[in-house]
Formats: sequence, structure tokens, C-alpha cells
Amino acid sequence: MRLLDLFSGAGGAAVGYHRAGFDEIVGVDHRPQPRYPFRFVQADALEFCKSFGAGFDVIHASPPCQAYSRARLIHGVGNHQNNLPSTRRALQKTGRPWVIENVPGAPMRADLELCGTSFGLKLARHRLFELSTPPIAVTLLPPCRHRAKGSRQRGEIVSVFGHGGDVYNGVATWREAMGIDWMTRDELSQAIPPAYCEFIGKELIAAIEHADARGRAYSSRSRTLDISSFPDPETSYDPSTDVLGGNASSGCLLPSMSAVTGASSHQSARRLNALD
Ligand SMILES: C[S@@+](CC[C@H](N)C(=O)[O-])C[C@H]1O[C@@H](n2cnc3c(N)ncnc32)[C@H](O)[C@@H]1O
Repeated sequence: MRLLDLFSGAGGAAVGYHRAGFDEIVGVDHRPQPRYPFRFVQADALEFCKSFGAGFDVIHASPPCQAYSRARLIHGVGNHQNNLPSTRRALQKTGRPWVIENVPGAPMRADLELCGTSFGLKLARHRLFELSTPPIAVTLLPPCRHRAKGSRQRGEIVSVFGHGGDVYNGVATWREAMGIDWMTRDELSQAIPPAYCEFIGKELIAAIEHADARGRAYSSRSRTLDISSFPDPETSYDPSTDVLGGNASSGCLLPSMSAVTGASSHQSARRLNALD
């Protein structure tokens, strides 16, 4: 099954959907994502959605959440993007099932609110999910327990945000808490733990297969997706926007249409060590 991962970052959501059973994943982000583990296209998410969204089984979107985040409330209203309403409109136009993810406080329907502790992670991280069709019934999860008395002091619970503040204890702690072993600290602070989208992905695949079995041909197997017409990374890549400050001559892995970035993992690992 094909999944389009809009506002992909370094692929926390994507890995979850892959574990759920999506076998063709395309990530789109307007910044280079050298550690994205699947096919990656550097492009504007909504433009890409308009051109190619209808060719996928499911579309996931994580528009930037600074406009609604707790950090904004603490530090005041900045000039932050609010891509949520335009993202929803673009997704609705594709006619495909979709999922929007964002932070508590975002103006969206909270069909699901997930926390790391429900998945056995030592992580306090609530995220809302709005689905094109609100679920009638979902598999039950253990309740969130990150507010259990003394749990942070005992080191049982970790919060992943910004640069980590006074309580930052190293990238290894964050990677373990998020269930993500391939990202830098900055990428982790923006990511969705894969467990969340693995859970949602399994529910979606079950619903699509159920619809297919009832003869509604919901999945995209019968539709064609011409990947040769995706934007050309050679022309869309701008090294000055590379968050890692790299470029081709300094060994930065340029996002490539034809290459799966994970294939050069030893290079990524070298860069990761330099960034921790
Ligand atoms: C919250 S992060 C995504 C986290 C990601 N879904 C994950 O699971 O790890 C939001 C991402 O949106 C990207 N972004 C912001 N505006 C964009 C746009 N107009 N088009 C594509 N990507 C955009 C940012 O570069 C950032 O990586």
C-alpha cells in the first residue's frame, strides 16, 4: 500500500506506517532530509499533494505546529506558520483517506490523542490525530500514565522538546524515549514516535482491506502513479537551506529521487556523531 508523508521531517511517522504494512512510502519536505529512510522528494507539501496526492492509498500530514505549541504560549506569539486549514483543504480535494497530526491546542478534531506511555515508551508527548473519516471503534490502548506522581523525578518519563532545557540528558535518552535511533536532537524534537503511526496505520489498512473485500476497490492498486514526473531534486535543492549546513562537496547526502537515503547509513552515522 502507498503512503504519502507530507511535512515528513526525518521520518518518525513514516517508519511507523512502514511497520504497520505500508510498503511504498514517499516523504515530502521543503528542507533536505538526508536521514529520511524512504523515497524522499524536496518540495512544497501542498503543491505536491495537489499534483500527486490522489495516487496514494493514504496521505499523512504533519504541518508545522509552532503556531499552537506550548512553547509559543510561553514565549509569546511569533510570526509562525498556520498551515493547518490549507492542509486540510488540500487533503480533502484528493478524495483519499487522510490523517492530520498536530499538538494539543491545534484547531482540529481530536479523533485520537496518543501519548508515549500508552505504547510502553518512557515518553510524555501528546499528539492529536484527525482522520478523514472519524473512527467508529479503535483498538483500545492502555491509558496515558505520564502524570503519575514522581515519574519524571525517578527518570521514568522523558519530555522531548526544543533543545531539551535544563533537564536535557543527551541524545541517547531522547532516542530511547521516542523509539527512534536515526535522528539528531533537532530532528527528534519535531518527530512523531513511530509507535503512534504504526497503531494508526494498522487501523487504516484494516479499514481499507475491509472496504476492498466488500467490493469497493478502495485501495490504489488500480491507479497509476507516475513517479518520473515528481519534482527534480537537482533543481529544487538549495544548499543554503540545508539545516545541517552541508553541501555535496562536504559529504552531505542530497535527497535523491532514485536513492533510498538509508542506503548510505554509514555516512549518516558519521554525520550523526558529529551532531550529537
Ligand atoms: C513537525 S515536523 C514533521 C515531523 C515528521 N512528520 C515526523 O514524523 O518526524 C514539520 C516539518 O514540516 C516541514 N515543512 C514546513 N513547511 C513546509 C512546506 N510548506 N512544505 C513541505 N514541508 C514543510 C518542516 O521542514 C518540518 O520538517
